[in-house]
Amino acid sequence: MRLLLPVIALLGVASSVSAAPAKAPRAIQHELPDGMPYPSPSELSLIEQAAHGTLPNGPPPAVISNKGITNLQLIAFNELFEVAYFHELLLNITENVDGYRFTDTGDRDFVTAALRAILAQEELHAIRANNALVHFNQKPIEPCDYVFPVQDFDSAIALASTFTDLVLGTLQDAVERFAIGQDADLAREIASVIGNEGEQQGWFRVMQARIPSELPFPTTSDLNFAFTAVQGFTVPGSCSNIDEIPLRTFEDLKILTKPKAESQNLTFAFEDKDNEAEHLLWMTYINQLNLPVVEPLHVISKNGSLIEATALFPYDDHELNGFTIAAVTTSDGPFDNANSVAKWTLAGPGLIIVD
Ligand SMILES: *[C@@H]1O[C@H](CO)[C@@H](O)[C@H](O)[C@H]1NC(C)=O
Ligand SMILES: *[C@@H]1O[C@H](CO)[C@@H](O)[C@H](O)[C@H]1NC(C)=O
Ligand SMILES: *[C@@H]1O[C@H](CO)[C@@H](O)[C@H](O)[C@H]1NC(C)=O
Repeated sequence: MRLLLPVIALLGVASSVSAAPAKAPRAIQHELPDGMPYPSPSELSLIEQAAHGTLPNGPPPAVISNKGITNLQLIAFNELFEVAYFHELLLNITENVDGYRFTDTGDRDFVTAALRAILAQEELHAIRANNALVHFNQKPIEPCDYVFPVQDFDSAIALASTFTDLVLGTLQDAVERFAIGQDADLAREIASVIGNEGEQQGWFRVMQARIPSELPFPTTSDLNFAFTAVQGFTVPGSCSNIDEIPLRTFEDLKILTKPKAESQNLTFAFEDKDNEAEHLLWMTYINQLNLPVVEPLHVISKNGSLIEATALFPYDDHELNGFTIAAVTTSDGPFDNANSVAKWTLAGPGLIIVD
């Protein structure tokens, strides 16, 4: 049985490869694979074979709430990004790009087989969301041009693990919004997709020498956080109908210190075009299904609209294991949940994973 072997070998991938010269990230201008986002019937049947399964074949529900439509738009927007990402990752491996070369062909075969299935499964998630939008007389979401901040296999898996954690949290929000809108059948479908994304995440974690199951209650999120984070991987102006998605885009938040499993002060950088830092600001952390934790934010420098600031990351007091979402908020709460944090967010999400 192949289990630990590929992992141990994989951890050596980056170091066994000569350092690639620094290159400007390249934006994907080419078409998505497999006829995406609108595959022909024969292309769809090839995707289903590669995905090891099919689109649900029962009739879609007759009606949907307005909140439910926003869910489908965000899911399509995110899944199309994931399709582009896993497609490019797979290409980098199969084309033996620097930083993606495997020394062991058994490892390479296993990883490409796993990624081929993940790619096709993400394609079906995107198709399903867009088909549902069309069924409800909405425009399907179009893909963008994308650019990814990774240059080798290990960092690509670490990034996949980070955005999958964000997806796992965001789909919780989608299920709740479907529940509020009484879109029962769609809520069940998202619960099914969460299982698939969780399986992927377990594998991404094992490849980073982490235990596969991260948390008893994976960290929750808000649709607006995912909407902002995915835009961080798109070429500005390339998403032709993004303005049909009625969600907010926050200012970009960067975490400049690498978080450790202990209480520490973290340094952050973010844009503050409206000069909100004239007033008090806070760093708010969302972890698991616990009440958000709020810490005062201390501005250290300001250059034009770019602010650098520090805030305590109170790991020890709140056991901030696994995935944490950080957001600069203009209120100190108290916040009941991720949705109320998003309402008061200026910049975010900052994505932190501790173990
Ligand atoms: C694929 O490799 C190129 C060249 O190194 C890199 O710019 C890009 O970010 C990589 N994409 C992924 C998803 O690993
Ligand atoms: C964080 O910074 C504050 C203010 O400078 C300091 O009092 C505190 O001890 C620091 N906390 C940690 C855990 O380093
Ligand atoms: C302020 O930002 C500008 C433009 O981003 C940069 O060129 C300059 O070096 C920065 N100044 C300081 C003191 O960091």
